[in-house]
Amino acid sequence: MNSGWTWSYQGYDPQAERLRETLCALGNGYFVTRGAATETPAGPVHYPGTYAAGCYNRLTSTVAGRQVENEDMVNLPNWLPLRYRMCPSDAPPGPWLSPDHPQLAEHRQTLDLRHGTLTRWSTYEQEDGRRLRVKQTRLVHMGDPHLAALRTLFTADGWAGEVEVETGIDGDVRNDGVARYRELASRHLADWECGHEQGDTVWLSCRTLDSDVRIALAARIQVGSGRGVPPRTTERGGQRVGQRLRLPVLGTGSTAVVDKTVALYTSRDPAIGSPLRAAVDGALAAPDFPRLLATHRAAWEHLWERAELEVPGEAGEILQLHLFHVLQTLSPHTAELDVGVPARGLHGEAYRGHVFWDELFVLPFLNLHLPEVSRALLDYRHRRLPAACRAAREVGRAGAMYPWQSGSDGREETQQLHLNPRSGRWLPDHSRLQHHVGSAIAYNIWQYCQASGDMEFLYGHGAEMLLGIARFWADCATWDPSIGRYRIRGVVGPDEYHDSYPGAAEPGLDDNAYTNVTAAWVLRRALDLGRALPEACRRELCERNHLGEEEMARWDDIAHRLYVPYHQGVISQFAGYPDLAELDWAEYRRRYGDIRRLDRILEAEGDTVNRYQASKQADVLMLGYLFSPAELADVFRQLGYALDDDIWRRTVEYYLARTSHGSTLSALVHAWVLARVRHDDAWSYCEEALTGDVADLQGGTTTEGIHLGAMAGTLDLVQRGMTGLETRDGALWLAPAPLPQLSKFAVRIRYRRHWDIGLALRAERVRVAVPVGGNGPVHVRLGGRTFTVAPGADRWLGLPASHSGYPAP
Ligand code: BGC
Repeated sequence: MNSGWTWSYQGYDPQAERLRETLCALGNGYFVTRGAATETPAGPVHYPGTYAAGCYNRLTSTVAGRQVENEDMVNLPNWLPLRYRMCPSDAPPGPWLSPDHPQLAEHRQTLDLRHGTLTRWSTYEQEDGRRLRVKQTRLVHMGDPHLAALRTLFTADGWAGEVEVETGIDGDVRNDGVARYRELASRHLADWECGHEQGDTVWLSCRTLDSDVRIALAARIQVGSGRGVPPRTTERGGQRVGQRLRLPVLGTGSTAVVDKTVALYTSRDPAIGSPLRAAVDGALAAPDFPRLLATHRAAWEHLWERAELEVPGEAGEILQLHLFHVLQTLSPHTAELDVGVPARGLHGEAYRGHVFWDELFVLPFLNLHLPEVSRALLDYRHRRLPAACRAAREVGRAGAMYPWQSGSDGREETQQLHLNPRSGRWLPDHSRLQHHVGSAIAYNIWQYCQASGDMEFLYGHGAEMLLGIARFWADCATWDPSIGRYRIRGVVGPDEYHDSYPGAAEPGLDDNAYTNVTAAWVLRRALDLGRALPEACRRELCERNHLGEEEMARWDDIAHRLYVPYHQGVISQFAGYPDLAELDWAEYRRRYGDIRRLDRILEAEGDTVNRYQASKQADVLMLGYLFSPAELADVFRQLGYALDDDIWRRTVEYYLARTSHGSTLSALVHAWVLARVRHDDAWSYCEEALTGDVADLQGGTTTEGIHLGAMAGTLDLVQRGMTGLETRDGALWLAPAPLPQLSKFAVRIRYRRHWDIGLALRAERVRVAVPVGGNGPVHVRLGGRTFTVAPGADRWLGLPASHSGYPAP
C-alpha cells in the first residue's frame, strides 16, 4: 500500500474513507484540510474539515438537563468543493459525478510525503462505454502558509463535448465530525458574505460567533493556462459562492485543466489590513499551479533536511508518515503563532482541538529539529500563565495551576460531562484534576533549554513558569505527621480510569506516585534554577514574585519528603491502589474482545473501573519514560526511597498486567520503558504504537483526528528511546538500547549551535558525525567515558555491555 515516500490506497472504500481523509490530510502548521473528496459535502462517508491553528469558538449546549459550555477548534468554510459531469456534444449532460456514483470504475490515491501533495485518479464509465478520467492534485502550501491549490485534469475517452465544472467555497459548515458530540451545539460561524473579483476569483467571509474571529477565503479559478475563458457563471447563495464553467474536450485523449488557488486569512493574522482584503489579494497574486507546486516542493525539501530520520522497512515507512503529520501540524510557521500542541493534530474535531499534556511527547522531538517551534509552543503556555495563576487562586492555591485542557485563553476547557457511547449516559468528567500537566510543562521547559541552550528563555519566561508551577506543588503538599511525609491529595494521575476512591463522595486520589515524583523533580529544578540565575535576574524574579528564602527552604523540604507509596515491593500508583479488586482480565477479554475502553464497558454494566486495579495507560511507568534510570534513581534517592533494578522491573511487570491501553500514548510509553529494560514484549508495544493511527487501533478514533502525541512519540522512541540520548551538562549522553527489530537507523539532529549532527546505530556501534563548521567539537558521553567529536569528524563508538541503567539491588 505504500513505499518509502508515498502512501497509497487502491480502490474506493466508503467504510475507510474518513480514516483516509485523516491520514491524507494536508497542512502547513497554519491550517490543515482533511483529504476529503472535492465532489461531495459532509455526510456519513465524507467529512471535509479545514482547521486553522488556534481558531476556537465557545458555544453553550444543553445536555442531560444541564447547560454546558464547550470551546471548539472551528471547522472553517470548505474550500475544496469541485464537482463535474460529462456533457457530450451528442447527448444530454450526464449526472454529477463523485466516488459514490455507480459510474466510478477505477479509483486510487497517493499521498506524496516528500512533496506534500495528494493525488487522486478516478475513472468514470457510462453504460455506453464513454469514459472520463480525472486526475486531481492538491497542496496546502508549506512556503506561504495562507495558500492552497487544487489542479484537476479531465481526459475524455470515447466522446467529445464539454466537462461541466462547478467549484467554489462552502461556508455552510458546522462541527459535526465526532458522533459523540452530536447533541452539542455545533454552529460556530455567522455573518457570511460572498462576492467575486476580476471575473475568476470568488470570496467568502464570515466570523466565529463568540470569539469573533473573522475568516476569509478567496478562490481563483483558472482554466488551462489562461484566465477568463471559457465563459463562466458566478453563483452566490447565503453561505456559498462558486462558479460554473464548461471546459471543451475535443475527443479521446483530449485533456482539460482547471486550477483552483485558495487564500485563507483570519483576523488573528499579523501584518494584514483585513482578512478579506488579504485573502482576495492573496488569491489574485498567487503564482500559477506549476510555480506554486515548485515553491511548495522546495519548502518541503528544506523541512525534510531539518528532520531527517532513516529507518528501514515498514516501521520506517510509518515513521515517515508520522513525521509528515507532525510537521504539518507544527511547522516553522507555528513559530509565528500563538498556539499550543493540539492533541489530535489539526486533522479532526476529537478533543475539540484542545491542548493537553501531550506536548510532553512532542516537544522533546521538536527540540532537536525545530527548537524555535518548541519555544513558541512554550510561549503559548507563558502567555497563559496569568490564567493559570488565577485558576490556582480560585481554588485557594498559590502559584500556577495549568488547565488539563487548554484552548484560546488558557482557562480550563475540560468538559463537565462526557458521553459513554456504550451506555448512552452523560457522566461527570473529573479529568481536570490532572494537575500533573504543570509538571509536563516544567519538564518541557527544562528539556527545551537543555537541548537548545536558550538561556534567555530559561532565565525569563521559563523561570517564571517553573517558579509558578513549583509554588503550586508546594502549596498542594500538606504535612502528615503520622507518616512524617508531605502528601498531595485529591488529584488524578495520567491513568484517567481512576478519578476517585470507590464510594467516595468527592473525586480525586491521594499520593499519586507520578504526580508526587514529578512535583519533587519540579521543585528541585526550580531551586537549581534559582541558584543558577544571574544575581540581578534572581533578585528581580524573586521580588516580582514575592519569593523569599523561607519559601524556598520549604520547597527544598518538600522536594525531599514527598510521599511515594509502595506495596508488595512495587511503587503504588496511588495510596490505596492495592486495596482495589483484581479484574478478571481473561474473562473480560473473552466477553468483549477489545477491552481498551474498559471504563466504558464497566460503566455500561453498571459497575465502575474505579473499583479495580486496572489502568487506562501508563501512570507509574511514565516515570521510566520521562527520566533516564540514573535521573529517576536520583529523584527517588532525594526523596529517601530506594529504586533499584529489581523494584523497577517488578513495577513494570505489575502494571503491564493491569493496563488496558485505552490511550495511544500507553503503547508508546510501554514500548519505550520495556525497550529500556530489554523486555521481550517491547517490540509488540512498539508495533502497536506504530500502527495506532494507520490501522485505527482505537476503533474509529483516528477518523476524528491523528494522535499527535503518539505520532511524535514514535519518532522520539527512535531518536531518544533507542539511543538513550540526553542533552545535559553540555554533552550528548548516549545509552543505546536498540530493539533487534529497530537496530539500524540514522537521525540528524540540531543540538545547540550544531545544526546537523548525524547519529546512526548499526549492530553494536553508534556513529556520531559533526559537520564542518565553526561551532566547535561535540562531547559525547557513552558507557562512562567521554568522547570528543571534532567538526568534520565522524566517529564510530562501540556500545558498552547492555544494562538497564537502574542501580543493582
Ligand atoms: C489520554 C490523555 C491524553 C488525551 C489527549 C486521553 O485519552 O488519556 O492522556 O492527554 O487523550 O490525547
